[in-house]
Amino acid sequence: MLAEVVSWLITPCRLDYRRLGYLGAAISLWARGNRCRAAWRPHEAQAHAAILAAADDLPQRRTCVVLGSGLLRDVPLAALAERFEAVVLVDVVHLWPARLKALRFSNVRFVASDLTGATDFLMGRTRGFADPLIRLRQDARIDLVVSATCLTQLPLGPEAVVQRWGRPMLWPADAGRRIVAAHLDGICRLPGRICLITDTEVITRNRTGEVVEREDLLEGRSLPAPDRSWEWTVAPFGEYASDEELVHPVNAYLDFRRRH
Ligand SMILES: C[S@@+](CC[C@H](N)C(=O)[O-])C[C@H]1O[C@@H](n2cnc3c(N)ncnc32)[C@H](O)[C@@H]1O
Repeated sequence: MLAEVVSWLITPCRLDYRRLGYLGAAISLWARGNRCRAAWRPHEAQAHAAILAAADDLPQRRTCVVLGSGLLRDVPLAALAERFEAVVLVDVVHLWPARLKALRFSNVRFVASDLTGATDFLMGRTRGFADPLIRLRQDARIDLVVSATCLTQLPLGPEAVVQRWGRPMLWPADAGRRIVAAHLDGICRLPGRICLITDTEVITRNRTGEVVEREDLLEGRSLPAPDRSWEWTVAPFGEYASDEELVHPVNAYLDFRRRH
């Protein structure tokens, strides 16, 4: 709890992102990841292997961009920093555990960016979404882009803000669907190979293995068949409920543009 309070105070984070709740959400995710460390480990190992498989047969390895890098749990930072000339970690907020992990690599840098492009719209400064990938699109040195288990998180921040503050003028009723579509279309227009790792739904299961509930996390968007897939036990028994666990199926695409 003390570490969480200290993180809230010392994490470098844009005031807008604090106000929109991103710092609080990142700290909650960090605490949950610590509690569920053992249950998350198989997912993290699968994600590391998929990212390295996407990286390994590239003809050249100049810049690798990781979108939704967060706490670098499902991102093999050391291996990427060894393989690429530069690694760019993009997330709305990077907590100090991620900053500490990156400290020993001189070729790793952090970029704080809202990948929905919705911040100014939510703050009442514009009446539309910005293009969050515009700068990256112009960087011809990018050889690999990893979208690291962030796609289904992107609609959640704006949805929570709209619930708390009310709907801004001209805010679309289908904002979540648009945000998911814009990320998938946007990453396909970036240079380099695109490795997409995303959860797709949440399955609630009881102790006998029976599915109690399923909920789509992709806002109705369907995805092509993945190169790899696995299950991520996001909340083992006792985390969300004593007799129910939450499991997210995860899809990995080693070269998403080819599939898209
Ligand atoms: C499930 S976590 C991914 C974890 C991360 N790949 C890791 O290895 O720890 C989702 C990530 O999406 C990020 N995120 C959520 N909304 C975002 C936004 N609007 N822009 C950028 N990143 C966002 C969160 O900060 C979080 O780090």
